[in-house]
This record gives sequence, structure tokens and C-alpha cells, in this order.
Amino acid sequence: MSEREAIDQAVADAVGGIDAAGSTRELNDVRVRALGRKAPMSQLKSRMGGLDETERRELGRMLNEARERIEAAIAEREAVLAATEEAEALARDGVDVTLPGRRVSSGHPHPLALIEQRIIDVFVGMGYRVAEGPEVETDWYNFQALNIPPDHPARSMQDTMYVAGTDLLLRTHTSPVQVHSMQAQDPPIYVVVPGRVYRRDPFDASHSPCFQQIEGLAVDRGITLADLKGTLAAFAREVFGPKQQVRLRPSYFQFTEPSAEVDVLCITCEGAGCSACGRSGWIEIMGAGMVHPNVLRTVGYDPEQWTGFAFGMGIERVAMRALGVPDIRWFYENDQRFLAAFA
Ligand code: DAH
Repeated sequence: MSEREAIDQAVADAVGGIDAAGSTRELNDVRVRALGRKAPMSQLKSRMGGLDETERRELGRMLNEARERIEAAIAEREAVLAATEEAEALARDGVDVTLPGRRVSSGHPHPLALIEQRIIDVFVGMGYRVAEGPEVETDWYNFQALNIPPDHPARSMQDTMYVAGTDLLLRTHTSPVQVHSMQAQDPPIYVVVPGRVYRRDPFDASHSPCFQQIEGLAVDRGITLADLKGTLAAFAREVFGPKQQVRLRPSYFQFTEPSAEVDVLCITCEGAGCSACGRSGWIEIMGAGMVHPNVLRTVGYDPEQWTGFAFGMGIERVAMRALGVPDIRWFYENDQRFLAAFA
């Protein structure tokens, strides 16, 4: 076989391999076989040493030309394969923008936290500051300082959770923080106190052994029952709606005199009377009254100079009424379907 024929054969073999290559990787193998050190063309080249000048030139020219043809064929094939491979990769890794999205769930405040914050905001807007106190209390703060005598039924083991082996208890209301707050400063004082309280109650639709209250206390010169009623009316309009009204009914608490239960217009019937309010048109939301002189004396405030009012409400109760929630347990079950309604 002449050199010419050998070269043509090598080019034909290479071009055949190039056309058959199905991937850029296969094409690379073909390139090594056709142009590498062991390729037929390289063997021909090694023969050049034995040739005379003219023959050597001629063979060199043919080899160069063959090499260029093979390289051109490779380049052409490479462009085609690279384009195909890119298209395949795009199809494989591509995003189907027509697929429905996946919902990302993000956290949000609990409905009780929302209502608590709303109540606090109303009072802060009226000039009150927020105070807090311990959940584990002494008998003195929870009862005695609030004018609750040792034999009163509210202190019985039925209602209060005591810390075994100590004279400590879990506070049954936020009212002891009235005492802490007044001990810590001179009058005038305007505070609201959010916090957890504990009672030996069943866990049913309207009770929980742990629940939350907000206490309010205002002591200043010349504070009257009218100030209490006006303050609570403003609060009710902010939290329950602009047409709200409050009604004070006579009641009894040891730490206030006079004392009252505070009602707001029924959220459901707006006063007309329905099953939710027992046909009365009103629902009870808190206890309140004028701070008892004995309580003022206990913290060293002079009841001849200073008068005040106090109130205390259950946040769950207010939230149930404001949000139309029928069962207190819903606030504590952490059922996502319930919580998501307040996102
Ligand atoms: N501490 C009372 C309770 O838990 C609620 C209460 C009534 C608070 C009258 C007050 C008040 O500040 O004046 O039932």
C-alpha cells in the first residue's frame, strides 16, 4: 500500500469513527486513535527520516493536509454533539414552571399572644406601663396583702396549687403584682400586668388549670369609680368594636371596695339577647373595683391622699369572645388548622 493510500485509509477510518461517535467523550477517544502517538499517521511520519528531501516534503504535506481534514471533521462533529448534550442537560435539569408550587409555612404569633398584645397596646396608649411578677408566690402576696383573710374559701386546697413542703404557691391571679408594683414605687402608678396563673380547675371547654390574666392598677389623687368605668369603656371599644358599652354589676372582692363584675355587650347579638349570652345581651369579662384602703395601707400608700381602681381579666375569655372561639382547649391543643386561621 502506497503512502498516499495509507493516508487516505487513515483519514477514511478516522472520519468513519468521528461520524459514529455518539458523545464528546467517544469523540475524544477517536481523536486519540486518529492523531495520537500510536495512530497510523504518526507511524507514517516516523518513516520520513529515511526519505530524500522531495519525498519527505511531499509526505509531510500529505500528512498535514490529512491532519487538517481530521481535525476539521472532529470540530464539526464536536459542535453537533456539544449542542445535543447541552440540550439534553437542559431538558433533564430544567424547571417545569407549570408545576403547582409547594406551600412554605412560616410561623406567626399565637391568637392568645395577639389578643394579649392588643389589650396591652390599648392601656399603653392610655399611659400605663407593663409590669410583671413571679408565678411562684408567697401566701402573703397572693392573699394576705390583698386583704384576703386566712379562713376565706378562695384559699382552700380546692383552688390553690401549693408547692409541697414550702409556704409557696402558684399564684391564683395576677393581683399580687399590684402589691409588688406599689411596693416598688410611690404613687401615682398606672400599670398593666400580663401573666400566667394557676388553679386546681378541670381542663374542660371553659376551664384550664393554667391560664392567663391581665391585671390593671391605677392609683392617683382623686381617682373615682367614674374613671374606672370610662377606662374600661375605652378598652372595650378598642378590643371589641366601636359600638361597645360596659356595665358594672355589684360584686365582692376582698381587695376592692366597692367591687364589680364588668360586662360588655354580647359580641354575637350586640345586646339583643341570644343563646350565647343567656338572653341577657351582656357577657361578663372581668372583675374590678376601687382599691381597698387596707391594700393601700399595706404598701404604705396613704388612703386619705390616694385612691385607685383595679381590674383583672382572663385573656382566654376575652379572646374566646373577641374571636368567637367556643372552647378554651383549642388555644392549647396546637392544632395547625386552628392556629393557621389567625396567621
Ligand atoms: N383577681 C381576680 C380573679 O382572679 C380578678 C380581679 C377582680 C382583679 C377585681 C382585680 C379586681 O384587680 O379589682 O378572679
